[in-house]
Amino acid sequence: MDDRPIGVFDSGIGGLTAVKELIRLLPHEDIIYFGDTGRVPYGTRGNETILKYARQDTDFLLSQNVKLVTAACGTASSVLPGSFAEECGVPFTGVIVPAAQAACATTRTGVIGVIGTPATIKNRAYGKAIRNIDPSVTVIGNPCPLFVPLVENGYTEKDNPVIRMVAEEYLAPFAGTGMDTLILGCTHYPLLKGVIREILGDEVTLVDPGAETARYVANLLTGRRLLSSRHTPGTLRFYVSDSTENFSENAGRFLQRNITEAVERIELG
Ligand code: DGL
Repeated sequence: MDDRPIGVFDSGIGGLTAVKELIRLLPHEDIIYFGDTGRVPYGTRGNETILKYARQDTDFLLSQNVKLVTAACGTASSVLPGSFAEECGVPFTGVIVPAAQAACATTRTGVIGVIGTPATIKNRAYGKAIRNIDPSVTVIGNPCPLFVPLVENGYTEKDNPVIRMVAEEYLAPFAGTGMDTLILGCTHYPLLKGVIREILGDEVTLVDPGAETARYVANLLTGRRLLSSRHTPGTLRFYVSDSTENFSENAGRFLQRNITEAVERIELG
């Protein structure tokens, strides 16, 4: 048993997709969330910068005495080395492997699509993870650089004409490829599920990396006997690197409730 909190980070609010599922699966766990809102987006930056930011985010969580670190960010996960858990000194997971496993278990046609930030797609992280699991699968990737700024600014409604136009453009290359499974390879993208589903139809399964990672974390903590011993509801603490009001508003919309927990602003680096 381990009563220390679970640490989760992302460049912004996207990692809340993992938090939402973690709260559902592990209601007695304390969670510390760091959103690097002062430096979002990561996905249009170079690998060296992303790696530096991801290490700083992790160091902050470790300074809060977490028992596990989750990079709930496709971009950070795509640059962190395989040996990162050793660097952390506590169990670590990114979102790539959990999402790749879910996609491989789902596909029937053997064609998996991946959308992500420019960095994630350029690094081919999902493709490598998928081929490690099943070399016969065809992986088609497409970067969607405008999705993160739109989500961070609250443009998530499926009827919004701006979102619709951008999503149609980004999803067009998948038409006629035989893809039956699409990894929403950036944790911000599940907030756009509504419009993506309308464009692709029900035949394509959408894989949510944040939710898959939460399941992975639940299994990992259970397997290693690191769950909390408490039977009372866990607490949630938020840290950001920019305006706390913007974050509370955005996070509230996403978690579909008022954020009553404290949100604290910190400086990194
Ligand atoms: N949620 C991050 C990801 O999964 C957002 C990336 C960004 O900041 O550009 O990739």
